[in-house]
Amino acid sequence: MEEKQSFLKQKIDLESPNRNIVPITTSIGGDGKLSVGGCSIEELVKKYDSPLYILDEFTLRKSCKAYKRALEKYYPGESLPIYASKANSSLFMSNLVSSEGFGLDAVSEGELLTALKGGVPNEKIVFHGNNKSDKEIEFAVRNNIKVIVDNDYDLERLEELSNSLNRDLEIMIRFTPGIECHTHEYIKTGSFDSKFGFGIEKLNILFANIRDTKHLKLTGIHAHIGSQIFELDPHNDLGEIMVNVILSAKEFGHNIDEINIGGGLGIKYTEIDDPPSIDEWVKTISNSVVKSCEKNNLDFPKLMCEPGRSIVSTAGITIYKIGAFKEIPGLRTYLSVDGGMSDNPRPITYQSNYSACLVSNPLNNNSNKKYTIAGKHCESGDVLFKEIDLAECKTGELICVFGTGAYNNSMSSNYNRIPRPAALLVCDGEAEIIQKRESPSDLLKYDVLPDRFIRQN
Ligand code: LLP
Repeated sequence: MEEKQSFLKQKIDLESPNRNIVPITTSIGGDGKLSVGGCSIEELVKKYDSPLYILDEFTLRKSCKAYKRALEKYYPGESLPIYASKANSSLFMSNLVSSEGFGLDAVSEGELLTALKGGVPNEKIVFHGNNKSDKEIEFAVRNNIKVIVDNDYDLERLEELSNSLNRDLEIMIRFTPGIECHTHEYIKTGSFDSKFGFGIEKLNILFANIRDTKHLKLTGIHAHIGSQIFELDPHNDLGEIMVNVILSAKEFGHNIDEINIGGGLGIKYTEIDDPPSIDEWVKTISNSVVKSCEKNNLDFPKLMCEPGRSIVSTAGITIYKIGAFKEIPGLRTYLSVDGGMSDNPRPITYQSNYSACLVSNPLNNNSNKKYTIAGKHCESGDVLFKEIDLAECKTGELICVFGTGAYNNSMSSNYNRIPRPAALLVCDGEAEIIQKRESPSDLLKYDVLPDRFIRQN
């Protein structure tokens, strides 16, 4: 019988994990079963239960090092890769990226606090958001974290704050460069019709307004054009646009010496995905900035980029246990698992595709079945895979879904009052908890029953 799960036999790209479907340390043991980070997945589930998020430390560090190395190789000026923590925010992730020399991008007080407590130095954190609260802005300023101004409302409040503190504040501004790229409508952010940042046509007025403030110092510009991008041209164009914006700002007396080109590099979720490598992506943007600076006789600004997905997605897998089956003759067989849209909302939100296999039969020997993998939530659309080839399987067996490290845990919910899974870190045969499993009673923690209602015990 044909082996259908050939992605497990593909050659691993050791230098650019985003080009693999599976974590680098994925292997199939002598017993034919799946392991990651030197840990048997079956054993992990026996100990920690399912569903289970697992992150592979080796793959994570490889991804970080690939960005660091490429920036050092291709960019002659100063550089700083910044981890976009919305992809997967935790004390652990903050600590890991910081230990690899990364900064961190946060978009809320929660992400800021997680970064600080996780050990990211404040001078390496940037604070984004299209509707920051007063409290969040004050938190950032009090902690000497650089705010990326997204709109006039941010600017007004920062000006007031700097005046009341009688203190200079360095700021960056975010603008939309008007670059279209081919990705899902919801994750496209750099085109003109976007809720984020200043339209590029508004920049001259903005430069004049900032020049007229007493304490705001414009040191940098930022743009992010979208996520899960496979093309290199948009970032090539962005490099040139960034340099042109620096030149326009100069005319208003601003010396911009930092550019942040956002994130967006795609990853391989399924066999048809073919993203560029981290090296190629960094080379494209670096060459574009260098060329434009040289043409315009400009010093190289500090180059920052903000990868999220390409740092953490491929390092992550999710393990589910199979429960009920429902066969609709001539149509499909539903196989239900013990998680779904609450731990991975991406299929229902973006119709995203993933790759998966059985933990006990990863190469899918004797594959002769097509299944629809459904989640356990009360929603017909809670389907993780519309159709997947798997070996004939039964209740109690485990399924491993690959590429779930980014925008799964961070976008998870408690829909249907389903507790969030535990998250483990695996490395060299050891597994450590990085997020405890929620329990149903944890979910009651913030419910309040007013006294006049009768409490049942
Ligand atoms: N910087 C900024 C300002 C961003 O808005 C984002 C992502 C990034 C960096 C990181 O982009 P990445 O390298 O991860 O592509 N929830 C969606 C993705 C939303 C991305 C939002 N912004 C998903 O699950 O596909």
